[in-house]
Amino acid sequence: MAATLITNIGELVTCEPELGDGSPLGALRGAALVLDGDRVVWVGGASSAPAADLRVDTGGRAVVPGFVDSHTHLVFAGERSAEFAARMAGERYGGGGIATTVAATRAATDGELRAGCAARLGEMHALGTTTVEIKSGYGLEVGTEARILRIAREFTPETTFLGAHVVPPELAGDRAAYVALVTGPMLAACRADARWIDVFCDRGAFDAEETRAILRAGVAAGLRPRLHGNQLDFGPGAQIAAEFAVASLDHGTYLTDDDVSVLRQAGVVVTLLPGAEFSTRSPYPDARRLFDAGLTVALATDCNPGSSYVTSMPLMMALAVREMGMTPDEALLAATRSGAAALARTDIGRLAPGCSADLVVLDAPSHLHLAYRPGSNLVAQTWVAGERICG
Ligand code: NIG
Ligand code: FE
Repeated sequence: MAATLITNIGELVTCEPELGDGSPLGALRGAALVLDGDRVVWVGGASSAPAADLRVDTGGRAVVPGFVDSHTHLVFAGERSAEFAARMAGERYGGGGIATTVAATRAATDGELRAGCAARLGEMHALGTTTVEIKSGYGLEVGTEARILRIAREFTPETTFLGAHVVPPELAGDRAAYVALVTGPMLAACRADARWIDVFCDRGAFDAEETRAILRAGVAAGLRPRLHGNQLDFGPGAQIAAEFAVASLDHGTYLTDDDVSVLRQAGVVVTLLPGAEFSTRSPYPDARRLFDAGLTVALATDCNPGSSYVTSMPLMMALAVREMGMTPDEALLAATRSGAAALARTDIGRLAPGCSADLVVLDAPSHLHLAYRPGSNLVAQTWVAGERICG
């Protein structure tokens, strides 16, 4: 396979402290990297780069690891712009609109679901995302949940069974029956196409005992746990996340000091999803508090048609810096290396020898422009597994 030298890089962010100036970003100036097949095989100063078959000159631009969007709901049908407009006119978000998307998704063909997912993923690639996690959760019946995961699996290995998103309208009067369905036949039909099990543990969704039962069943079926929690209110999500040592607690907007402390002790990543606060006009979480407590904090889009119809990781970084107390360096780490940690991966989110050759060439001299110039797409090229897929 041909090796490619990417050179004349003004600023190379490796997210590997040993490779750079010692800062957490592991940044190098006047750098180059060599890709061979789907891997990075060499990183260093441009003047000492080895020869390769192909040469790409970035003209002094910045290169960063591809963004890892560790929380999305990309397979769905329909849209909810009227609900968004009602919210912006003063209505409060409570997750009730999920049923609208469930009805549209159940009625959609595989082809329609696949095309919608592909279109959204295309936007993400053009905005620098190179790894995406995709959840089910808009089927809430055995056949549609299994269909969503089968389609999601065509796009990514990071698929999550979220049958426990909410209780569907037809079982509203019998929650126990729905939990039995999720932990029984639905899990059995979905497990082959899922790597992860997730539950929406929050006000109006699933309570502590239901959440534990569903996570336990998923883990027994060989899936790894992650959790939606503490988005809408304080609640048991964080404590359960720690109990199950989940890879990531996602949302984490309402956390007590004790929640923060148990999450840190359990080594749980907290994935913040500022697209949800932005699109529901809700208070943002305080990322500074989480960093100061020693937690690993990731950023993701939560792309879904209700609470966050957003595909842009650079927008998440800009919001995290402007609204949540992150520095630009912390936001980039959260969108790359820590996003990988939220998926229990070390082969992505970094540009070090042996890692997947997933990278973004920015139309900017420095990564700082990602947060400094919100609203402009600064992504000049996106490379996934050694292949230039955009730009
Ligand atoms: O992550 N939190 C729960 N689920 C989604 C929202 C889904 C919807 O409103 O359709 C979320 O924000
Ligand atoms: Fe979500």
